[in-house]
Amino acid sequence: MRNPRRVAIFLGGMSPEHDISVLSGLEVFKHMSRERWSPFLVRIGRDGTWQFSESADFSDESFSITEGLTGLLQRTPDVVFPLLHGAYGEDGRFQGLMDYLHLPYVGSECLTSALALNKARARDVLSHAGLRVPQGEELYSPNTVTIEVPCVIKPMHLGSSVGLRIAHTPHERTAALQHAFRHDHRVLVEAFIQGREFTAGVIDSLDGPPIALPIVEIRPKTSAFFDYHAKYTPDATDELCPAPIDNDLRLKLQAIGLEAHHALGCRHMSRTDIIVTPAGIPYVLETNTLPGMTSTSLLPQAAEAYGLGFSELLDHLLHLALGRSASES
Ligand SMILES: Nc1ncnc2c1ncn2[C@@H]1O[C@H](COP(=O)(O)OP(=O)(O)O)[C@@H](O)[C@H]1O
Ligand SMILES: [Mg+2]
Repeated sequence: MRNPRRVAIFLGGMSPEHDISVLSGLEVFKHMSRERWSPFLVRIGRDGTWQFSESADFSDESFSITEGLTGLLQRTPDVVFPLLHGAYGEDGRFQGLMDYLHLPYVGSECLTSALALNKARARDVLSHAGLRVPQGEELYSPNTVTIEVPCVIKPMHLGSSVGLRIAHTPHERTAALQHAFRHDHRVLVEAFIQGREFTAGVIDSLDGPPIALPIVEIRPKTSAFFDYHAKYTPDATDELCPAPIDNDLRLKLQAIGLEAHHALGCRHMSRTDIIVTPAGIPYVLETNTLPGMTSTSLLPQAAEAYGLGFSELLDHLLHLALGRSASES
């Protein structure tokens, strides 16, 4: 194989998380070691058109998907790094397309990606594996809700807290349901869990079992929960890494991260969101297969605390995607 290897970084995409994906993609592009990798960018527009660039600046030239696929193959990537969050990127559809093209890619495969992005199905698998999830119900229409307030109303297939609200009164619950159904045809309602919020990152190792990264505690400063503002506004949230918790709780949360990674069949990386009640009972909220990947995002922060800087984390993920032999060559 050539050195440096060609990496196709996909960013943007057709989901409401387009802008976040662009941030992740550009940061990955910027920090990727040019000694080992020769990256180029493929930006998918909100309308599904494709653009290519060898730098962070894009020309206006855009292509249909068929032209885009030809353009991708002509650039002969050795490996693909998808940073497309949400639908059409994180949900298995993109991964299936790469499988058809025989292109290795970073991150979970088709089935796991699809499973993890469906909040209800992921809960089924996680609870089947013995992990505790909040009481929940899946709704096809706003009128059938039975879970009492306070509760959390989530569009089934979205991330970044888009369309997600916490309801404290039945009136708020009705409004939140209407809001969520504007974003998705299915909605998950969960009992509201009061407690401290943590996230447990996991990365695969090249020749051993997956590694549980240091735990991060999430404390939004002004938002009532980890909403879109708290996630993406600089300084809106204190992210404490490693989390100030005792050893028992740290081990418990790391074990949950690993268990969720295994249960869903995650590959290369995952990040599991968890709330711990004042009595010390952990509830799993979800597992992200393609977490935010700016240098200050949660999984890169946790990797940094583990001793893997952002560029090294990218090296590691690309080596995982290429397989062990590639990393030794
Ligand atoms: N059952 C719950 N109880 C309390 N807070 C919750 C609950 N579910 C979600 N949240 C809050 O909403 C945020 C986003 O929910 P999550 O399920 O992780 O979806 P997303 O894919 O949007 O990140 C969480 O980080 C947490 O702050
Ligand atoms: Mg989350």
